[in-house]
Amino acid sequence: MHALKVMIRILCTFAILMNQPVFAADESEGTVLITGANRGIGLALAEEFNKHGYSVIGTARKPEQAVALKALDVRVEALDVTDKNSVARLAKTLEGVSIDILINNAGIFDRSSKSFETLDVDSFNIAFEVNSMGALRVIQGLLPNIAASDRKVIANTSTILSSNELNTRGGNLAYRASKAALNSAIKSLSAEYADRGYVFALVHPGWVKTDLTNHTGNYTTQESAAGLFKIITGLDASDNGHFYDFQGKELPW
Ligand SMILES: NC(=O)c1ccc[n+]([C@@H]2O[C@H](COP(=O)([O-])OP(=O)(O)OC[C@H]3O[C@@H](n4cnc5c(N)ncnc54)[C@H](OP(=O)(O)O)[C@@H]3O)[C@@H](O)[C@H]2O)c1
Repeated sequence: MHALKVMIRILCTFAILMNQPVFAADESEGTVLITGANRGIGLALAEEFNKHGYSVIGTARKPEQAVALKALDVRVEALDVTDKNSVARLAKTLEGVSIDILINNAGIFDRSSKSFETLDVDSFNIAFEVNSMGALRVIQGLLPNIAASDRKVIANTSTILSSNELNTRGGNLAYRASKAALNSAIKSLSAEYADRGYVFALVHPGWVKTDLTNHTGNYTTQESAAGLFKIITGLDASDNGHFYDFQGKELPW
């Protein structure tokens, strides 16, 4: 036992010298659940929270194919946010697990930037199913888990494209509108649940190199996740109902 303690002390000293965070193996900073964690920004968030000593639950539509996520020291669960039975199964699996931070990251980008005259408006359904209703299904399903935590943080990945005030170019109608619907719902929930200690926020991850942007963009997933980590872990009651970018700038609705 003594030898073990000496070993831990040596490792801690080494970690401090190397400027690395130090966490005892059985000590977690808290539990975070990230949806759509098998690739892109969600995967980078899982890595970032894991690195900082959080217990991470990462969801994937097809966990068996979530190779990069499974390679991390995280819990992987199945979730399709468009399927209420999938959300119910996740809630059942996580019964009794307290969730400090929920990150609704799963999202899709539509390609409706083509001419409005030829746009199939019926194709908008899927964007709303995933980007707006999906997040609400997950919040509703996991409310007991969030209620069990003292932190009760619910961060929702929106986009600067959802801001009506900043919309000067148009295009991407379904994406903008579905994320604006998410913003509206989250703003409402922030007011409804404020007196119960919940913190609902919206975050914009920057323009990030992922499949969603065909790997164009200004930032890597790691840069975005590092910024989002700071914002999300710093959220408190004063941030309830606010919309921030990954560098902490408040965005207009
Ligand atoms: N990249 C950007 O520049 C940017 C900018 C602003 C906002 N965002 C937002 O950031 C979030 C992450 O985007 P990303 O760039 O990382 O995209 P991405 O690389 O395309 O990843 C999207 C993630 O969402 C998951 N997903 C899609 N539909 C789902 C469903 N029905 N149920 C559960 N999970 C589902 C995907 O799972 P599968 O692998 O199974 O498809 C994947 O894990 C999105 O909400 C997006 O709108 C991104």
